[in-house]
Amino acid sequence: MNRILKHLLGIGAGAVLAYGCGTAMSDTKTTEDSMSASFQVNYDETIAKIEPTMYGIFFEDINFAIDGGLYAELVKNRSFEFDKPLRGWTELKDKGLGVRFFPINTNNPRNARFMRVQIDEPGSGAGLANEGFRGMGLKEGLPHDFSIQVRDIDGNVSAIRIELLDSNGQVIANSRVEGINNEWQTLTTSLTPSKTEAKGTMNIWFEGVGTVDIDMVSLFPSDTWKGRKNGLRADLVQLLADLDPGFLRFPGGCIVEGFDLSQRYQWKNTVGDVDERVVTINRWNFEFDHRPAPDYYQSFGVGFYEYFLLAEDLGAEPMPILNCGMACQFNTGELVPLDQLDPYVEDALDLIEFANGSTDTKWGKLRAEMGHPEPFNLKMLGVGNEQWGPQYVERYVPIVDAIKAQYPDIQIIAATGSDGSIFPNGEEEIEYLWKEWKRLKPEIVDEHFYRNPDWFMENADWYDSYERTGSKLFVGEWAAQSVGVASPDNKNNWETALSEAAFLTGLERNADLVTMTSYAPLFAHADGWQWTPDLIWFNNLDSYGTANYYVQKLYSNNPGTHVIPLEKDNKPVTGQDGLYASATRDENAGELIIKIVNTNNASVNASFDVLGAEMGATVSAQVMSSKDMEAYNTFEEGDKISPRSESQKVEGGKLSYDLEPYSLTVLRIEAK
Ligand code: AHR
Repeated sequence: MNRILKHLLGIGAGAVLAYGCGTAMSDTKTTEDSMSASFQVNYDETIAKIEPTMYGIFFEDINFAIDGGLYAELVKNRSFEFDKPLRGWTELKDKGLGVRFFPINTNNPRNARFMRVQIDEPGSGAGLANEGFRGMGLKEGLPHDFSIQVRDIDGNVSAIRIELLDSNGQVIANSRVEGINNEWQTLTTSLTPSKTEAKGTMNIWFEGVGTVDIDMVSLFPSDTWKGRKNGLRADLVQLLADLDPGFLRFPGGCIVEGFDLSQRYQWKNTVGDVDERVVTINRWNFEFDHRPAPDYYQSFGVGFYEYFLLAEDLGAEPMPILNCGMACQFNTGELVPLDQLDPYVEDALDLIEFANGSTDTKWGKLRAEMGHPEPFNLKMLGVGNEQWGPQYVERYVPIVDAIKAQYPDIQIIAATGSDGSIFPNGEEEIEYLWKEWKRLKPEIVDEHFYRNPDWFMENADWYDSYERTGSKLFVGEWAAQSVGVASPDNKNNWETALSEAAFLTGLERNADLVTMTSYAPLFAHADGWQWTPDLIWFNNLDSYGTANYYVQKLYSNNPGTHVIPLEKDNKPVTGQDGLYASATRDENAGELIIKIVNTNNASVNASFDVLGAEMGATVSAQVMSSKDMEAYNTFEEGDKISPRSESQKVEGGKLSYDLEPYSLTVLRIEAK
């Protein structure tokens, strides 16, 4: 089947199903029953090598994923550079003019504003309260590091008192900083709360009468990932580390493109001193009328340096995606004129120098000054996120030509637009781009799918007949939508996760073509999200992986090194009798790995005839199952749907396993 025909079929299934919720699983049995199925596995026949990059992470600051999430900073609008300078802050003062706050705009775009505090009559007190990101998560007994940039203008304001409060307004920690003088300086102290609070706040009180300037008011818990200053939330990084990801894509997503070009992601604004990063409105601030987030900005406390560092920490290949001179085509679709593309070309070239250049280059030197003299070993780069049309190709070509002229080994990721079922003339646009990609031969092409669970099950063979054009496939954003694309009613339920498990068997079977895949979006703050479903949910203190997370984890923790044939009646298992499967050989561990999805409301006795190897005496299994397709994990029951480990003796060298109804089972067994 050629791609056009596949797409015609795909439109039929996708367009209808994407906006309506189909029935759950393929089997029509209503009572529990038992079935049996036999499979042939050829252990020493190789279909494809599995790239170490295969299972990775898609990162975007959506749903308060970074500011208010991964970035452990607890103070919102710490530099008073949001649209409203006091957004997130409340003035603490008596009635009258005795205490006034003046935002001062500077001429420095890298530090656009600070706050002047003028206290003539403090009354019962003069200060500011910060609300945090839907509150502040404060932990009993844990030191929290406070800092503030301050200078004296006149008078005798000599100290600042800091209070952390619980949700009832009771003070649970306090401290003071003093020594304010007429030079900007950073004053620091530590506060240790007497209780744990998910919705805390912080007050800062100015002692004395006079005028002071303040900036970069900051509070971090001291238990950040690896204990780093300006660090990340350790529980959230741990969830990522547990995935053992092959790559880390950043910074998005539509955030790369921006609502318009002025709001696009500009990596150079996100590196260097934290207080000199250019605060920018987050495009998800106003994207959805049903989930407005007027307080959503990007501080870039996590910028490109921190993304590279995180990729290194996780042992993942860094995968930056750059703007190609086009704003989001779901929004303004603003274009940079072709004769003004140079800054975009320079951004790409300079980024490679920042990541890989020697420390005597301009950008390599900055990397070293930031703490990483060794290169980050960047190998691939995306040019454009979800772009389409000839305007994309016209901008892609000069940028890529310039990259290749200087860095021929950097692999280029090209886009095919968004999910073809959700953007104007999507499938036609995708066809157009594929013709261009066949001509231009990017190393990697990025495809996205936001469809309903039935689509993912019905298309577990999506890539089986895909034309091999020479470009590898990156299935860079995908997730089953239980109600409709980005519907606020979508749930990370077992139905979606099981359908994704089925689709993943198809990605794995086609690992010769599909060399990378990532679920999207990654994170969501329970009180601040815009888009659901998401892989990991968190609040100010806690976090949990969804059923979808555990499905991804089972695949990424058990990739194997080579895809091998697993067939039923001489055909790959792509939904026959409600079953989906893939098999790999792990040459490092000397093991056979089978991933098998049972979408029946019946258990299945699966027996495997394995050619080319002798089986070990014990098979280990990790099983995810639930009879309730609507079930999902919560803060209270974060592992309600998660893998359970089992093991079983293998009788007479013959491998068989009982697959539970509605289950994903990953089998591992020694093979000689
Ligand atoms: O994953 C959420 C959004 O979906 C991404 O920002 C965008 O690339 C896609 O449309």
